Amino acid sequence: MNDFLFTRRTPAQYARALHGAVDTVAVHLAGTDRPRSAATPEELEELVGAVDLDRPLEDLDAVLEETRRLYLDHAVHFHDPGYMAHLNCPVAIPAVAADALTAAVNTAVETWDQSTTATLVEQRLVDWTAARIGFPAADEPDGVFTSGGTQSNFQALFTAREDRLSRPHPLTRQERLGRLRIVAGEHAHFSVAKAAHLLGLSADAVVSVPADRGGALDAVALEWVLHDVAASGGEVAAVVATAGSTDLGVIDPLPAVADACRGHDVWLHVDAAYGGGLLVSPTRRHLLDGIERADSVSVDFHKSWFQPVAASALMLRRGRNLRFSTWSAEYLNPRHAVRPNLVDKSLQTTRRFDALKLWMTLRAVGAPELGRALDRVLDLAQEAGRIVADAPDMELVARPVLSTVLFRHRPRGIDDAEADRLVEAVRTALFDSGRAVVASTVVGGRRCLKFTFLNPVTTAADVERVLDLVRSAARDALPVAAAAGAR
Ligand SMILES: Cc1ncc(COP(=O)(O)O)c(C=O)c1O
Repeated sequence: MNDFLFTRRTPAQYARALHGAVDTVAVHLAGTDRPRSAATPEELEELVGAVDLDRPLEDLDAVLEETRRLYLDHAVHFHDPGYMAHLNCPVAIPAVAADALTAAVNTAVETWDQSTTATLVEQRLVDWTAARIGFPAADEPDGVFTSGGTQSNFQALFTAREDRLSRPHPLTRQERLGRLRIVAGEHAHFSVAKAAHLLGLSADAVVSVPADRGGALDAVALEWVLHDVAASGGEVAAVVATAGSTDLGVIDPLPAVADACRGHDVWLHVDAAYGGGLLVSPTRRHLLDGIERADSVSVDFHKSWFQPVAASALMLRRGRNLRFSTWSAEYLNPRHAVRPNLVDKSLQTTRRFDALKLWMTLRAVGAPELGRALDRVLDLAQEAGRIVADAPDMELVARPVLSTVLFRHRPRGIDDAEADRLVEAVRTALFDSGRAVVASTVVGGRRCLKFTFLNPVTTAADVERVLDLVRSAARDALPVAAAAGAR
């Protein structure tokens, strides 16, 4: 009885289960050479639907086998070089080991009495990240691990809102809420607009700053926008600059944006969810110059730091601003607790010990090697850009900056509208075949295909191979795409 639980009495069951899981992954890896299977959604629905959840299988081996067939065989594998779609990375193996440790111990980091060392480990990593950003120690920077860039951006904007509303003003808090604005570059991540909505700001609260020709926030236009908001009686809660926009990989001009924010005395949030990995790049750290002048920064370790989901942090230049997220409960984190309770800084209560993944990776691999791995990815994006630009039947939509490559396939004789329609047809055909996974997006009003690289193992030969798959999918799709246009 109770042998299914991880306890002092069940080390053998625990070891058998984990070894079984490892073996199952190994069997799967040996039998696959593509990012996903070619199973249709209907086939997958049937597979999952056929399981009778009220009738457990005879033993864990059978469960692992069933799970391999249901899940592993059809999962989308980010470690496969044919996966080039979104900001997902192959994961550092020490981090996978860390996940096994934290899952078994089941640490919850919200209070000292549930986590002890885990609290200190997370705090050390927060301090380490603050130092990498370059926040002045005199400002007593601080931060907290979050579930991802969306949560980090939300908490940053919540903190900025509270910081702004805590300043003396003749209007009431309610009156001011409707006048608050968040100013962001036109390529800011959608989570910024979503955060504004969740924060109860008005429908027109997000003011978009046009991009310059390269796609970065135009610092001159930012000045105009800040003047306009003030002239029309609004208050700017925060300016959001992006360090690595999701589609273009563009980094906004952080020093100029910081100057504007200082001039207008407004909060600067830097969304470095994507570009944050540059903090450890041996060759490209300078691209983030100016980030140290931000009031808050989002860094996603589960993107450019090769960490398993979830691993992200919100970093604050003045750590005391985390007090806006503090809410005390006598049973958990009483006001005058002697030891640190991380729940005081977090939007979450029960929270995983995600910091251990990054900790063990830094201890086993080291920050320079992580940075070099990211550099390899960025070099590959440059090479992929050249390959696309040199191909007569491809159009490079934008010069790669970080690790995205935007392009359109233009077989001879097709017009813009057909090229647009081809994008979705090709993307879907590749996904359905299981041989490659690429993304699509719209830039400058034109639909295009997108490679997002985060795999240092992917090579130029992989890029050439996937471009050939694009060509052959387009050949198959052209009559269909033309017919769709004629309708
Ligand atoms: C620039 C940027 N910010 C925020 C996010 C959201 O991050 P997450 O998916 O971890 O919530 C993303 C996701 O791609 C992003 O690219």
